[in-house]
Amino acid sequence: PRPPQSPPAILARKGGQPIVCLTAYTTPIAQLVDNHCDLVLVGDSVGMVLHGLPNTLGVDLDMMIMHGRAVRRGLKSALMVVDLPFGAYEQSPEQAFHNAATLMRETGCDAVKLEGGVHMAETIAFLTRRSIPVMAHIGLTPQSVHTIGGYKVQGRGADAHAILRDAQAVSEAGAFAVVIEKVPDILARRITSDIDIPTIGIGASAACDGQILVVDDMLGMFADFRPKFVKRYADLAGDADKAIAAYAEDVRSRRFPAAEHVFGDVPASVPDAG
Ligand code: KIV
Ligand code: NA
Repeated sequence: PRPPQSPPAILARKGGQPIVCLTAYTTPIAQLVDNHCDLVLVGDSVGMVLHGLPNTLGVDLDMMIMHGRAVRRGLKSALMVVDLPFGAYEQSPEQAFHNAATLMRETGCDAVKLEGGVHMAETIAFLTRRSIPVMAHIGLTPQSVHTIGGYKVQGRGADAHAILRDAQAVSEAGAFAVVIEKVPDILARRITSDIDIPTIGIGASAACDGQILVVDDMLGMFADFRPKFVKRYADLAGDADKAIAAYAEDVRSRRFPAAEHVFGDVPASVPDAG
């Protein structure tokens, strides 16, 4: 088994072996991910992936705590990071500290993640100086879907400079890593070579210091959600559909349950009918 991970150990891998990350929201998936990954994120994507919400804005701290506890029980060595949900950290560094400390206490996670660059740098510094390791998240930040106006590629053309400044700001503020979501390859490469902390790409670049995907996306749990940046490694939705259809057919035709699925008893113990 690999040694347990820590935020400083992840930070020390800047420029080295790629850091392997996936999301997880439940104990059984956390166990599978833990066998192969360095870092597990309990993302607020849980709201869309498991609860059918239209975006991540409806996710609250209680939801993150419930899924965080489930994931904690499935991990042995991977670093566990939990997302601060929308509304739980933007108001002030003090609000962020209060809710991040609650997440750490209630879930046993190793670090928290929050969205934002330059405008969250003060908060990142406030938390890290008070013993809460922070992973930042820049580029496309889904909690800002309404101000951005959709889930489009960020940092194209002249907008690249602002994202470069975001990356520098979170690095200087003390984040131990930064997720870069949905930006041009060339920009993610430039950020990765410019800053001192590991970049974790999603829709970014193979040059990033690590990669992350939503586990349900790469497992093919959704037939109708296929963004360009997701590589599908399985078709679990297709397999599950076939399995459920076969079960339905078996029940309707009385092929299930078969003899091996039912319990025996001595015949005389059941009175004859009528
Ligand atoms: O919530 C999430 O799953 C995330 C990752 C996609 C980075 O923030
Ligand atoms: Na997230």
